[in-house]
Amino acid sequence: MLDGNAHSAVALDRVLLDHRVLDHGVADAALPGLLATRKTLPPKLFYDAEGCRLFGEITRLPEYYPTRTELALLRDIAVEAVSGLSTGSALVEYGASDETKARLLLDAGGLFTAYVPIDVAEGALDALTKRLHRSQPALRVHPVVADFLAPFALPGAVRGQPLTGFFPGSTIGNLDPDSAHRFLVTARRVLGEDSRFLVGVDLQKDPALLIPAYDDAQGVTAAFNLNLLRRLNREAAADFDLGGFAHRADWNADAGRIEMHLVSRRAQTVHVAGHRIRFAAGETIHTENSYKHTLTGFQDFARAAGWHPVQSWTDPARLFSVHLLAAGSLSVVK
Ligand code: AVI
Repeated sequence: MLDGNAHSAVALDRVLLDHRVLDHGVADAALPGLLATRKTLPPKLFYDAEGCRLFGEITRLPEYYPTRTELALLRDIAVEAVSGLSTGSALVEYGASDETKARLLLDAGGLFTAYVPIDVAEGALDALTKRLHRSQPALRVHPVVADFLAPFALPGAVRGQPLTGFFPGSTIGNLDPDSAHRFLVTARRVLGEDSRFLVGVDLQKDPALLIPAYDDAQGVTAAFNLNLLRRLNREAAADFDLGGFAHRADWNADAGRIEMHLVSRRAQTVHVAGHRIRFAAGETIHTENSYKHTLTGFQDFARAAGWHPVQSWTDPARLFSVHLLAAGSLSVVK
């Protein structure tokens, strides 16, 4: 999850503004984008408790193919994907709010002796650590509570062990290309010269399949998007009328990304943390990008960040891909 649960650390920073609750952390994250000429909100604000629940529902929707496709693909390739690793490796998962996907790798070949899940959601990390202690008592679990886009240190206990990074879910697609590049460069430095990295990446495909994945018939993704405004009302002293905005998902072919927007249904004025924000009818708040790659496009992208593509796998319908990258130059692309 991208910097989820911003609600955890900011209780002391709450004040009352005109009888409304103002959480400076949330307001500071929201205001620059809302005050800009082209309005935006940062996707990290999606993941309050309700946003996490709605995202869980999204992953089970018939239209949202990425989660089930990646899981099936990982099940198929897990043994092959870990086959080149040394026994006694540690698996380092970026954005690990649950261990379902990691388990497929941890169970394949018994090469991993340690697992380092990194996430901002402390409660989710505690719960997954307890589950793994029960089911795999020999595995050392070292949770790291951190925003993986900011600098953080790996636990001393895994230093010196061969490391494999794991970044599933195509979460890399929610970063703009510069941030994704910086993320890959930093991950290579953190994981070290002998490391590998397994990255799940959604693929470009017919917009007729892509759009419904982000605009489902039951309206769950719409609720997920609109929940941003509900959160701002609750935590950033805002007064959005949720009925005044509509969810929209667009395929931006030039940029290779799905864009999510909240469209103002009419001209209106909204207050957020003491600021007056005007909307024209039809004006949008751009809330998320989800970049989709080609197989070779992502390999080139990884190369530019200093990684060597070793192997890439896709499901039979070529909906989703998993890439094995190596920090060193020992391997060739298959
Ligand atoms: C978390 N991330 C990979 C999801 C995606 O597909 O970009 C977030 C999401 N937004 C709407 N639906 C799912």
